Amino acid sequence: MSTPSVIESVLVENRVFEPSEAVMKGACISGMDAYSALCAEAATDFGGYWARLARENVVWSKPFTKTLDESNAPFYKWFEDGELNASANCLDKHMGTPNENKVAVIFEADGGEVTKTTYKELLAKVSQFANALKARGIQKGDRVLIYMPMTLEGVIAMQACARIGAIHSVVFGGFSAKAVQERIIDAGAVAVITSNFQMRGGKELPLKAIVDDGLGLGSCESIKTVMVFERTSTACNMVEGRDVTFTEALAGQSTECAPVMVGAEHPLFILFTSGSTGKPKGVQHATGGFVLWAKLTMDWTFDLRPDDVFWCTADIGWITGHAYVAYGPLAAGATQIIFEGVPTYPNAGRFWQMIERHKCSIFYTAPTAIRSLIKSAEADSKVHPDASDLTSLRILGSVGEPINPEAWMWYYKNVGHEKCPIVDTFWQTETGGHVITPLPGATPLVPGSCTLPLPGIMAAIVDEAGHDVPNGSGGMLVIKRPWPSMIRTIWGDPERFKASYFPAEMGGTYYLAGDGAVRSIDRGYFRITGRIDDVLNVSGHRMGTMEIESALVAKTDLVAEAAVVGRPDDLTGEAICAFVVLKRGVPTGDEAKAIAKQLRDWVAKEIGPIAKPKDIRFGENLPKTRSGKIMRRLLRSLAKGETITQDTSTLENPAILSQLGQAY
Ligand code: WT7
Repeated sequence: MSTPSVIESVLVENRVFEPSEAVMKGACISGMDAYSALCAEAATDFGGYWARLARENVVWSKPFTKTLDESNAPFYKWFEDGELNASANCLDKHMGTPNENKVAVIFEADGGEVTKTTYKELLAKVSQFANALKARGIQKGDRVLIYMPMTLEGVIAMQACARIGAIHSVVFGGFSAKAVQERIIDAGAVAVITSNFQMRGGKELPLKAIVDDGLGLGSCESIKTVMVFERTSTACNMVEGRDVTFTEALAGQSTECAPVMVGAEHPLFILFTSGSTGKPKGVQHATGGFVLWAKLTMDWTFDLRPDDVFWCTADIGWITGHAYVAYGPLAAGATQIIFEGVPTYPNAGRFWQMIERHKCSIFYTAPTAIRSLIKSAEADSKVHPDASDLTSLRILGSVGEPINPEAWMWYYKNVGHEKCPIVDTFWQTETGGHVITPLPGATPLVPGSCTLPLPGIMAAIVDEAGHDVPNGSGGMLVIKRPWPSMIRTIWGDPERFKASYFPAEMGGTYYLAGDGAVRSIDRGYFRITGRIDDVLNVSGHRMGTMEIESALVAKTDLVAEAAVVGRPDDLTGEAICAFVVLKRGVPTGDEAKAIAKQLRDWVAKEIGPIAKPKDIRFGENLPKTRSGKIMRRLLRSLAKGETITQDTSTLENPAILSQLGQAY
């Protein structure tokens, strides 16, 4: 059990890093009194508080008169009668201001080429792309699947959809053809925006071919258009009448396009994420609330200043790339870095070299990246952060998974030189933006803790019945009141939305995050202890165990039964461990290795390479109770390599434990 040890570490962690005067000076929220004042405002006048923030931070073409409608909870509506456009809030609003000719995006390609695009230029590009979408018949409310590399063009495609009120659904470029097909069907998408190839680590990898394969799997008749970015000069298959290159689609299109104003609740996007069942959930976000929170958290969490150079390393295929690449930095008027490649190419010093090259001042990345770069830096001083000039850095951020105190300290010392606060931001695809995080100019930092909720986020730790648990006791993380950037529903499945996130036993209005957490006794600081459902976090990527199990048993010629659990991993946080019963009996030695490889390749094809199990263990059966339930706790112990001390007397066939002891 990992929970008690994590709780213990919260209780024993006594390092505290107070914000220095230098970081507090001029900060957006400076000092804990300023933080507390905002919390008090939210507590005393919840509606008035959010209305004020929404008026101050969002450009409305039609002002809202109603702040929050709770009449059909948990289907909350925010700023419902207001109208706006997300792209206008990111681009048009800067025209005629000093930001007009400011660099919006510094793009660095995999191979190192750098291009800079100002706000004015970006507006022209987005508008032209929006016109190209309209010319292909794409309209407000249509769903558009985006399967793009991490390029400026990916962001332009998202912004262009938002500009005409089309709903984008970005699928990470590492997902498989089957995943693309399933998401097209679920979203009922009318178009796909993709690229011929993507460049990663010096390699040219296909993307369009995967889209073709996905469409070829069937039931994708809704797709009328495939727009293909020519990332490289290599040709790819083009289907007459359906497929069009960016060059063809943009030819002759005007660089002006009036944004389509939409109601605040109009869906801005759908983003699929893993849940506890085999089928990924299409998380639906609303325009007004999402734009508000993306903009405001740029100011609050990152304390964004006019001359900052902001860099979030997340891919646009994840929620972090939505809130803190495609929308937030633009809505806040920042200069941001967009990086196409991988942190280890051409060497593992790439991040540090890029911070120096572009004078990055706010750097936001994932613990997995930090942990792997620690390893490389310690093995080779040439790729150590010390080999680069990192004096431009002001603020560091972490996102996606718990950051262990050792990695936190290394990041703090070696990257931030003990001058840069680390904001350990806890949030989820569903929360639409940060919910629990330190504020750089206010919150005393404790390594490994995401500290306190943002003002207005009514986070708490409760038991199964929804009662608060005392500090120091573990429980379930909930948010008791709605907030503007929250998930609105699961696309096409409102019942699943209610059942997944608003447990009836807690009264039906508490948002259940799916994470366990504990608050420290002294400060009430939150620490996330990990998922409490069947969701794994592998390198900050969310994976459902059931999803991987379904993929394995779909290999019907080989697999009879499969169970998947997570185990702790020093580098990736958690690793995927699959227990497999083959139809042909238990393989050993080279045969087992070969079959394990075959199964990994199969999972990569079904879901994507990120879902490949690290360990595969074979047995003639899975450990089950006499009533036939798979003993997952036992599997988790086996996966960790623990000696089994649990009572196995209820096991139908205790002998299989030794077979399952070998990982391939
Ligand atoms: C899950 C959400 C947050 C955007 C990227 C991931 C875990 C996320 C933290 C953090 C501890 C974290 C949680 C959460 N998580 N941030 N700072 N500390 N755990 O979004 O794919 O929806 O995953 O990531 O388990 O539930 P996601």
